[in-house]
Amino acid sequence: MNTSQHTAFSGTNQPLEAYWMPFTANRQFKKNPKMLTSAMGMFYQSDDNRQILDGTAGLWCCNAGHGYHEIADAVHKQLSTLDFAPSFQLGHPIAFEFAERLKQLAPEGFDHVFFTGSGSESVDTTLKMALAYHRARGEGTRTRLIGRERGYHGVGFGGISVGGIVGNRRQFGTLLTGVDHLPHTHSLENNAFTKGQPKWGAHLADNLENIVALHGAETIAAVIVEPVAGSTGVLIPPQGYLERLRKICDTYGILLIFDEVITGFGRLGSPFATEYFGVKPDMFTTAKGLTNGVLPMGAVFVQKHIHDAFMSGPEEMIELFHGFTYSGHPVSCAAGLATLDIYERDGLLTRGAEIEDYWQTAMHSLNDAKHVIDVRNLGIIAGIEISGRDGSPGSRAYDVFTACFEAGLLIRVTGDIIALSPPLIVEHQHIDQMVETLRTILSGTA
Ligand SMILES: Cc1ncc(COP(=O)(O)O)c(C=O)c1O
Repeated sequence: MNTSQHTAFSGTNQPLEAYWMPFTANRQFKKNPKMLTSAMGMFYQSDDNRQILDGTAGLWCCNAGHGYHEIADAVHKQLSTLDFAPSFQLGHPIAFEFAERLKQLAPEGFDHVFFTGSGSESVDTTLKMALAYHRARGEGTRTRLIGRERGYHGVGFGGISVGGIVGNRRQFGTLLTGVDHLPHTHSLENNAFTKGQPKWGAHLADNLENIVALHGAETIAAVIVEPVAGSTGVLIPPQGYLERLRKICDTYGILLIFDEVITGFGRLGSPFATEYFGVKPDMFTTAKGLTNGVLPMGAVFVQKHIHDAFMSGPEEMIELFHGFTYSGHPVSCAAGLATLDIYERDGLLTRGAEIEDYWQTAMHSLNDAKHVIDVRNLGIIAGIEISGRDGSPGSRAYDVFTACFEAGLLIRVTGDIIALSPPLIVEHQHIDQMVETLRTILSGTA
């Protein structure tokens, strides 16, 4: 069948139909494609040869920016030495080396690292570990998993079940059973235009007490939250909130999981959010910045007491019936090790703390820009919320996204919230460019 008359083509006459794009309005995109063809440092290049400032570190993942030959060389070397090796009942040195390096980087107590292929896989791994942990200790009644409204934990069935974004859930049936949700912490009424962590809202953690009262602590395995929620539009935890959640979990023997897929690797100005907030979960997830986004990989960091609970049966028994073909993939490990070298050499895991003040002041200079109803920030993250159009939520932000792209700035939008999370090599002039572009585009947007 000749389908050419229905086939979308890019500016370079490339057919676009075959690729079913993820999290994309495919028909809209293919009518007017936005194509990126190369990247270096802070900039992408588009297929019409424009420089596009990367305001989002790709998808919150290219924390060191783009185009490092050191990573390319390490990947090439590994590909030419050991391109793949099974990780079930066999090992290869670079996976052990990478796990050891990560352990050295992690806060004290996170002695074990389980490799996955993505953030979603990291999330589902922690949920399964939590269930299996309680069972291993003779508390098999603890099967409930608690997430939070507006949480994003990837797209696996576990992740969307504990997640709290309706659009990601409603197409997919009944999801996991036995899941409950804490309320989200976002309140424009109380916290609009807050710099850093808002003062109002720590008490929202106490809703965990209600969930315990409703279901019984002995049925609850774990609570999972993003320390800073990103994909749902940058929700900053109120002062004292995470501390309170930790305390209630401790009281009732519930595990606390942090989803650090976006906060891991320097986003807040410290290697991980657990250090930034001084609150230790039992496990935390990572992905994205783990390899600077260049190859798919995730890692779950596990405290010793979780790991050790599995290590008591006969030694010839597999302790955890879980893993992926690509767990500890040697080429991803090579990319990850080279990434850690760059983070260390260039001080990127703490650079956020150095530029946070400039970032904060610049972002809040948009407080009076047209349509803006909130600006919030933490580390090198900012959320700029704009008023939605009557009857067409999200359309104004989408227009801003398109106009910014045309003006040479990549932002991310979710609903009517603009999220910014540039690579940690960002300089003052890039921040200024982001602010100026946004102010101009917002003022010209209906
Ligand atoms: C907090 C959080 N968890 C999980 C994920 C899912 O990661 P991936 O897309 O690599 O599966 C994301 C992705 O944005 C995320 O922000």
